[in-house]
Amino acid sequence: MSDSVKISAAIVTASDSRSLDDDLSGRRLKMLLESHGAEVVSHTLVNDDLDSIRDELLKLTDKQDINLVVTTGGTGLGPRDNTPEATSAIIEREVPGISEAMRRETARQTPTAILSRGVAGIKSQTLIINLPGSPKAVAECFAVIAPVLNHAIRMLSGDTKH
Ligand code: MTE
Repeated sequence: MSDSVKISAAIVTASDSRSLDDDLSGRRLKMLLESHGAEVVSHTLVNDDLDSIRDELLKLTDKQDINLVVTTGGTGLGPRDNTPEATSAIIEREVPGISEAMRRETARQTPTAILSRGVAGIKSQTLIINLPGSPKAVAECFAVIAPVLNHAIRMLSGDTKH
């Protein structure tokens, strides 16, 4: 099975308090995606309003050249943690195994991993994955999804060979 696929990724950081300059989890994510071979074509910061996050996700998933959107932040239990709801509002099909695996595998080392409510799903031909908002969490979760990322994106593009 060939795993060759071009991943064009967008990063969305949800935070009321950061600027792009001090967005450490977004920067860590960019580094990890690029090390994985993905091209990061966009990195945006939005506030924690559900509408802001949803509108940004809609804008990005409308773009033909983006097949992966990874968010960081806003997945916890706080009153302003709206990323899962914003994502669920626009996805057409959920991919629960991705979020389940990140929680299950990383909770072995980091029990608070189960406090992330992140979801994953498909809108048009774009996969959206919510990650928590710390650089450490991003690194731990990315390690879980990296081995299946290329296969997922290849299937999304219509190549369903195994
Ligand atoms: N998952 C992993 N793998 N590692 C972590 O350090 N932090 C948790 C959790 N998921 C964490 C993690 C914590 S402390 C919180 S509050 C939630 O993610 C939500 O984080 P967020 O609101 O920044 O998205």
